[in-house]
Order: sequence, then structure tokens, then C-alpha cells
Amino acid sequence: MLDLEIPKKFYITTPIYYTSGRFHLGHAYTTICADVFARYYRLVGSDVFFLTGTDEHGQKVEDAAKKEGILPKEFVDNLVSNAKQEWKSLDISYDAFIRTTDEKHISLVKEIASKMLENEDIYKGKYVGYYCKDCESFFTSKDIIKDKCPLGHNVKKETEEAYFFKISKYQKWLKQYILDNPKFLQTESNKNEILAFIDRGLEDLCISREKVGWGITLPFDENYTIYVWLDALFNYVSGIGGLDSDNFKKFWPPDFQVMGKEIFRFHAIYWPIFLKSLNLEIPKTEFAHGWWLSEGMKMSKSFNNVVYPLEYVKEYGSDIFRYYVIREISFGEDGSFSKKNFIERINSDLVANIGNLLSRVITLASKRNQETGYLFFRDESFVKEIENKIIIISKLYKNYELTKIINEIFQLSSLANKYVQGNKPWELLTEDPKKFDQVIYTLLETIRILAVELAPIFTTKWKEIFDQLGLDANNKDNLKLEFTNISEKRIVKKGNHLFKKQEIK
Ligand code: MSP
Repeated sequence: MLDLEIPKKFYITTPIYYTSGRFHLGHAYTTICADVFARYYRLVGSDVFFLTGTDEHGQKVEDAAKKEGILPKEFVDNLVSNAKQEWKSLDISYDAFIRTTDEKHISLVKEIASKMLENEDIYKGKYVGYYCKDCESFFTSKDIIKDKCPLGHNVKKETEEAYFFKISKYQKWLKQYILDNPKFLQTESNKNEILAFIDRGLEDLCISREKVGWGITLPFDENYTIYVWLDALFNYVSGIGGLDSDNFKKFWPPDFQVMGKEIFRFHAIYWPIFLKSLNLEIPKTEFAHGWWLSEGMKMSKSFNNVVYPLEYVKEYGSDIFRYYVIREISFGEDGSFSKKNFIERINSDLVANIGNLLSRVITLASKRNQETGYLFFRDESFVKEIENKIIIISKLYKNYELTKIINEIFQLSSLANKYVQGNKPWELLTEDPKKFDQVIYTLLETIRILAVELAPIFTTKWKEIFDQLGLDANNKDNLKLEFTNISEKRIVKKGNHLFKKQEIK
């Protein structure tokens, strides 16, 4: 067995998305990235819990419902059922879908607010500042540029009595924690921004809002609603069943929490501090990825410049869409969506590379041993190269280097293509049939490994590859990530081209 250093358990989360409108490419991107990690770790035998869900409270949702003339609950119920459909069509394999309107979530949030009060981390004071509904965030006058929040949304000036959380009390602890745990905040540049932010001094956080009807009431003062971020962050606890659950014991803390960079501050500062206040273990890694941009601006409902995944999924299938979004953006950086680029990637990466390799090798394999299949053979130096890639890929998963993972998977395909070129099996066919059989076995087994590595991304295409290799995709024993005798005596079946060449319309 190859030593892939597989974690025993792997708890992965996406942000919970606001139910103020349809999900778009940005939401899909985070969720697909998380899904790839969840699927890989399941594949290699970790006990995985993948959580996603919806953030249903807050003024933004309340206003959106009002605009449609329906009650907030009805509004969010509709959106959630659409959202689940979208995730289904993108083949998202979440283990639980948490809604902040779930009873178990509401009671947990009240419980933790009371605990924080007991721990003397909450006090009453006066709030003077600005509220941005789009970010569901408080800002001070120094953050406001031309009457707008730093992301360019309209803000409202507010002065009210409010409850505060003593963030400042934890400033020193947090900074030290970040420095002592280099893997906690990623990427490096986002971490540095957080450290600089901490150095400018952390202010206490207003955690209540007066007169917001749609939200969780503060258990110790019914006149207030709990600030939506305090409510939302604890989905990561309620989503696995709450503090007393078996799943909490098994999975806490989260191993990998992935999100867009605009909400990193909440996860890198407030979240660990809240957990520290409650004496709960801190997540292993908070990872901020970049933005999908459109005309240089963040793709966002509030800027009206969004791409909707379903239109692409309908035309090209979810595999290709999943592949494109994780391939196009370097994980951690910004990127732009372009239809031309999308088509070019299908043609160059998928049709010309992986698709061609498969059809070439299956065609060659069909030339001999059609009734019996091929016998096990191990070409040591080539096997070393392949197994080395398997190990590299698993290390890259461990370090959350999604872009490099894809590159390495494609390298497997390039190695196989080179092996074909180097051995010229079409010549061996008549000159040295025994060697031909050995070369073909090596290639069939390499393609099996390639298909398994592709499976977290191409959730249906890898099964088509297995079909052509004569392998049962439902048999877990066939999914081993090492060079084995699994491909022995399998009867290959030539099938359709894996990917179709596309015209740029
Ligand atoms: N509800 C909060 C999150 C609470 S988590 C405890 C929220 N919701 S959101 O609907 O606005 O979703 C924000 C997230 O969606 C981003 O952090 C990112 O994961 C994803 N994206 C939305 N637009 C995006 C882009 N344009 N580009 C990349 N991802 C973005 O914030």
C-alpha cells in the first residue's frame, strides 16, 4: 500500500449562503472546490463530513422577501428548494445542509449567546456607526468612502444601545495563535492582511441589532436580534448536530473551511475568538479563495453582473463545468469567466489530452486478447513515476493546493501519452506481441489510476472511463490509488469519445 498519510476524519465546510437570491457562479465555485476535497478524502478512506447550507436571517433577506410581498419564511423556503436542486445538478455531495432557521440551530445560537454572557464576554453599550445590509456588516466612519462601504454598497447610519462582544480582550491571544499555527490562515497574503488588521487594533463587536424582525432573539434581552454573523458562524456547530452530538465528538474541529476572501475576516478573527470564549477547539484551516470578476468587479448579485452555472451545465454537463471553474482560477487568486476560454479548455485539455489518450489506448487494446484481457505486468521505472504522482497529489490535497492537484493529474495523462509514444505499441503489435501486451497492461492500469484521480472532479466521466476499461465503477476495490493487478483480464469496450470538440459560437 502506498503511504498517502490519510487523515482519519475530515470535516469540511463552505460558507452558508444568503437566501436573498439565486446562487451564481461565485457560490458554485466555493461549493465545487469543497466538494472535490470531500470526494477525494472519501475515496481514500477518510471519514468525511461535508457541510453546506443557507444563512437565512438578516435584513437583506427580510427586505428581499418584502419586495416580493411574501413572508420571509416562505421566501427562504422557495430559495432553499431551488438551491438544493442547483447543488444536485452540480453533483455536490454534501453530508448535511444546515439552515439557520432550523430549530436546532436557533436553540444552539441562544445557548452560546447565554454562555458568552456568563463568561462575561458580552456587555451593553452604545453603538454609533454604519450598517451595510449587503455585507451584513458594521463599519465605522473611517471605513466609509463616499457614503459607501469598502465594497461599494450603500450604508445606513445607526445609533443605538446595543450588546457588544469583547473582541479586544482576545487580540493578543489571537495574534499569537495565528503565528504559532502557520496552517491556520491561508492563503499567505490573506493571512498577512489579517495580521495587519489585528495590529491596527481590534474593536469590540456589536452583536445585537434593534428591531430587526427576522432573526434570532437575544435570550437575555428580547428587544434585540442577534447579529447575523454571530448567528451564522455557529452553523458549523449546529450543522453537525450541536455540541452534545456524537458527530461533534467525532468531527470537531473543522479541518478545512473554505470561503471567498471578502468574508475571511469573520472567519479569521471573530470565529476563533468566539470559539476561544466558549473553550472550543479552533478549526485547523481557514482558507480564502479569490473572486470571480466580471468587467474587473466582483461578480455579485448586488452588482448585477453574474454568470449562472445551470445554463452551462445544461449545455455541457456538470463535469465540464466543475473542471472549468477549478482549472480556470488559480486557487486563492481572482479570475474571470469567459465563454471563449471555457470552450478552448474543453478542446485542448479534455478532448485533445484525456479523451484522446483513452480512445487511443482502448483502440490499441482491442487489437489483441479481446476475449481474455491482458495479464498483470509491472514496468518498474514507469510504475515508480506513476506512484510518485499519486503521492504528490495526496500531499497537494493535504496542503489544499487545488490548482497544482489538477496539473499533476494531467501530468499522469501526459506520462501515459509519452509512454505510448516511447513504446510505439502499433509497431510491437507485429514485431513483439508479448511486449505489446505488457505495454498495454501498463497503460490500462495507468488510465484506471487516472480515472480514480479524476473522479472527485469529473463525477460522471470517470465512470465512462471505467466502462471502457471493463471495470465496475461501483466496486470500491477497483478504486485503489496504486499500481495493481485490478486491470488484469478485463475486457475493454470501445465507447464514445469522452468529450466532444466544441465550436466557438
Ligand atoms: N452568509 C454569508 C456567509 C456566512 S458563513 C458563516 C455570506 N453569504 S453570501 O451568499 O454572500 O456568500 C458569500 C460566499 O459566496 C463567498 O465567500 C464565496 O464563497 C462565494 N462567492 C460569492 N460571490 C463570489 C465571487 N464573485 N467569486 C468567488 N466566490 C464568491 O457571505
